Amino acid sequence: MKDNLIIVEHPLIKRDVTILRDRNTESETFRAVLQRVSNLLAAEVSKNFSLSNIIIETPLEVTEGSKLTNEVILVPVLRAGLGMVNGFLQIIPEAKVGHIGLQRDEETLQPIDYYYKIPKNLNSAEVVMLDPMLATGGSATEAISYLKKHGAKNPVFACIVAAPEGVKKLLSKHPDIKIFAAALDRELNSKGYILPGLGDAGDRTFGTL
Ligand code: PRP
Ligand code: URA
Repeated sequence: MKDNLIIVEHPLIKRDVTILRDRNTESETFRAVLQRVSNLLAAEVSKNFSLSNIIIETPLEVTEGSKLTNEVILVPVLRAGLGMVNGFLQIIPEAKVGHIGLQRDEETLQPIDYYYKIPKNLNSAEVVMLDPMLATGGSATEAISYLKKHGAKNPVFACIVAAPEGVKKLLSKHPDIKIFAAALDRELNSKGYILPGLGDAGDRTFGTL
């Protein structure tokens, strides 16, 4: 299970997660920093993407080069996952983007689904699900189940903050996936919020506090 959880260690990520955690960070800065840390995460998530050899001509001679073998499909979970999309697109601009709409019921903490729009060919793509928060793991487990049901072979999940409870739940249902997180936090509180966390990622991104 340990190998399936990758905490991406980088000084700039630590700096950015601190800015995101700070309650005094306003939405404008929160969005910019979420995009920047997503950019750094994208480099790590794509490290194992498969490459194919191609032949190209430089201005001087013919040489071998590389291209990504598979299409890349990013799938943000609405709403907060939207804040990670541009950071990923900056370094994988050719990626397609699907959307899954899930909202956690505040009482039961169960995810309620309200929207799905996913590009075709999930089965032959590198599929990366995006959501800043992995709390109880209910939303991520449901979203990954949906992606697999529609053909995704080895989806990976990229988040900013993960709680141990969410990691356990997600990997017990989907032991074959990889989770990339910028930070692994301590625990959930009684309302299902991550401690120390960064609060409600959707509200902080979109200024709906
Ligand atoms: C947040 C977050 C995840 C979910 C994580 O979304 O973006 O999708 O909670 O919690 P879980 O691991 O316990 O399922 P939320 O339901 O608050 O919706 P929002 O993005 O629309 O605010
Ligand atoms: N969703 C969030 O946005 N934050 C949490 O801490 C838990 C779930």
